[in-house]
Amino acid sequence: MAEKMTVPEVVKMKQRGEKITCLTAYDYSFARILDEAGVEILLVGDSLGCVVQGRENTLPVTMDEMIYHTRAVARGRTHALVVADMPFLSYQVSTEQAVQNAGRLLQKGRAEAVKLEGGVAMRHTIMKITEVGIPVMGHIGLTPQSIHRFGGYKIQGKVKNQREAILLDAIAVEEAGAFSVVLEGMPKDLAAEITGRLSIPTIGIGAGAQCDGQVLVIHDMLGLFQDFTPKFVKQYADLKGVITAAVKDFAREVREEKFPGEEHTFK
Ligand code: KIV
Repeated sequence: MAEKMTVPEVVKMKQRGEKITCLTAYDYSFARILDEAGVEILLVGDSLGCVVQGRENTLPVTMDEMIYHTRAVARGRTHALVVADMPFLSYQVSTEQAVQNAGRLLQKGRAEAVKLEGGVAMRHTIMKITEVGIPVMGHIGLTPQSIHRFGGYKIQGKVKNQREAILLDAIAVEEAGAFSVVLEGMPKDLAAEITGRLSIPTIGIGAGAQCDGQVLVIHDMLGLFQDFTPKFVKQYADLKGVITAAVKDFAREVREEKFPGEEHTFK
């Protein structure tokens, strides 16, 4: 990817029928690697609460933590679009607070867009944030900040009324001015229907192959986080295995006085 990825360019990718790739990143080193590998979108997800901080869900993540991680990711980005998640309670209390917090993620975190969860209920909020020039990525379906309302990480949209509600959410997000929308944890035919109905790109996670793009949590797809692996995760590498073997080699060589060798030592 030679050109800088921008919000209009992401939208054009859907129009050209090109698939969009998105991975989460939480720090400079990972951001650089993913950016150089050609991923279009780096999402600083509030999933960092689980995979970086070891919390049981995303609810405790704060604005200050999101800004800290977004700034680190932005330093590693050259081509990719950096999208920062709005954490729980940073946008639900009032639209004024939502606009201010979205602005902080751009001003202090150097994100280029924000993502927030919710459809019809967030319509006005998305409208207000986009009105001040901040691009918004929506997120509907299995929205992790509503885990207690769902009673766990359960696939949404399996029954008729849920399905209709999710479709209305998708339409509301587009009409409110979002430039794209994450479809999480829903039947593939519902995601395909939404993808066909919307002119903005859909980015799927546990939503089948018909979405305009796909997103995964980097720790899941690299096999770094193995506390819980959802069905929709494909593990492309076993970095936990690689790291464990390297750490064991290091410890053994230190104990056997093989490291540091002459080549790692100053005269
Ligand atoms: O927080 C996150 O990483 C996300 C993606 C999984 C879509 O919202």
